[in-house]
Amino acid sequence: MCGIVGAIADRDVVPVLIEGLKRLEYRGYDSSGIAVLDGDAIRRVRRTGRVAEMEGAAATEGFAATLGIGHTRWATHGGVTESNAHPHVSHGVALVHNGIIENHEQQRERLLALGYEFESQTDTEVIAHLIHYHLQGGGDLLTALQRTVKELTGAYALAVIGRSEPQRMVVARMGCPLLVGLGEGENFVASDVSAILQATRRVMFLEEGDTAELTRAGVRVFAADDAPVEREVRFSDVSLASLELGPYRHFMQKEIHEQPRALADTIEAAIDAGGFPAALFGADAGAVLKDIEGVQILACGTSYYAGLTARYWIEAIAGLPCSVEIASEYRYRAACANPRHLIVTISQSGETLDTMEALKYAKALGHAHTLSICNVPESAIPRASELVCYTRAGAEIGVASTKAFTTQLAALFQLTVVLGKLHGRIDAALEADYLEQLRHLPGSVQHVLNLEPQIVAWAERFAGKSNALFLGRGLHYPIALEGALKLKEISYIHAEAYPAGELKHGPLALVDAEMPVVVIAPNDSLLEKVKSNMQEVRARGGELFVFADQDSNFSASDGVHVIRTPRHAGVLSPVLHTLPVQLLAYHTALARGTDVDKPRNLAKSVTVE
Ligand code: M6R
Repeated sequence: MCGIVGAIADRDVVPVLIEGLKRLEYRGYDSSGIAVLDGDAIRRVRRTGRVAEMEGAAATEGFAATLGIGHTRWATHGGVTESNAHPHVSHGVALVHNGIIENHEQQRERLLALGYEFESQTDTEVIAHLIHYHLQGGGDLLTALQRTVKELTGAYALAVIGRSEPQRMVVARMGCPLLVGLGEGENFVASDVSAILQATRRVMFLEEGDTAELTRAGVRVFAADDAPVEREVRFSDVSLASLELGPYRHFMQKEIHEQPRALADTIEAAIDAGGFPAALFGADAGAVLKDIEGVQILACGTSYYAGLTARYWIEAIAGLPCSVEIASEYRYRAACANPRHLIVTISQSGETLDTMEALKYAKALGHAHTLSICNVPESAIPRASELVCYTRAGAEIGVASTKAFTTQLAALFQLTVVLGKLHGRIDAALEADYLEQLRHLPGSVQHVLNLEPQIVAWAERFAGKSNALFLGRGLHYPIALEGALKLKEISYIHAEAYPAGELKHGPLALVDAEMPVVVIAPNDSLLEKVKSNMQEVRARGGELFVFADQDSNFSASDGVHVIRTPRHAGVLSPVLHTLPVQLLAYHTALARGTDVDKPRNLAKSVTVE
């Protein structure tokens, strides 16, 4: 949830740190800071608020150095204050930290007894003091770091500089991503490759338990037992364009409009193969997916709603039982595991701690087979999974997940058809039909984007509301949930979603003339039922905003507004009906003047409990 960048070079690294922090800001944005080695002194600047404020302060104070570290913070331990912002310093040691140290209270007691004083409420400050403590005991900065991490429980990515060692930076990783960027006579560290792409594309992902030393001349990596180890050097193909706004006002807007391309890229392998080979999910996927008897999906937030949609597909099309559970609930539940149920984790970032822990828990319960659907190559969750399907949405910067969701749906649909084939539910003709439907999807999505002006008009009405209800049934109930989440997340309007049939069991009491009710109402087998539910709303004075499709046979009337998507998209209809609710949330937030890409209190990837 926080971001780390560090650099050692022969040039001034402050611009590299600031640029890196701006690129990481979407991950956490309540405070930021940098620390540099200036002569034989550590200098530090920290500010609450956005990186731009800290940048201004660094410029005013004339920061320039060839060795430095930086951090963007999303508060966990301790409020949003300058003293809680990173870097934290102890007697000439400065460090930045992502993650959570679980035994920080015991370590704090121990350090207090040793005479250390604390200036923050963070769990991080204990690490700075511990490193200083071990430095005092003899040994260098790397040894002190290696001794320190052995005393920590929890998750961390760390970058450390020390007054006594101007020629190097040391880093460590456990449970949080950290990579090293390799330059010519300069080297870098970052929690996310986007932070250092300006400087290098040659990267080395550190493994769990690794520590490393970066000098200008090179990098040495050590495994958890402190033995030297080699890690593979890769070339990052993340495009800089995906990190730039271009002509758009917000990343969310850009990412909504990128969906036709993101979907086309995600389904490209199936289109190229002319069908749905199991190999879409890895070389060994055929044997694994044929052997399973059911599916258990684990995810959080929007990714969970992708899973809820997939349940309808997997049960109806592949004929396999499928359960979907919020990862943070599953991981603490005494679940009855069926080892022959495939665990499917869905995570845009591949870093979400609850999903990662749920995956570990599922394995501990005896689940033999795991599959990850993820948008970030080399992230923790796919690395811990047996089978992987990478969505090809490209970098998603807006905190509100948009293109990641629809590409997750595309991947899950492909998984459904693969399972259906392997379990004898789909013959060649049906497979060809599904492929054809998938082939049309990017074009249909493009058509839905053309509805934007009509949705802008609705958003202006929503902007003055305090509450909203979203209704859907069957396959489209998860899309109602996604619409409500998007609206509350970025516009701060309280929104709830219900299966339309559930309305009369309680939520109908909320409906009056002030309550806008969004209905996802495509022309499927439940349409007549949805129409009855809409009557229940109208009869109580509620105003209906209906997303239908051309053949749904709706007409607008007093208190009933209708926008039609171009055509009914069969089983892929949930994908098409996602775009209008994304656009409604986006334009409502715009009209209310919220910070669309960085909504309050949130962060892009949630690496804490
Ligand atoms: O990276 P993940 O897909 O695992 O993230 C899960 C949720 O934190 C995420 O989908 C969140 O709900 C989004 N901000 C919603 O737009």
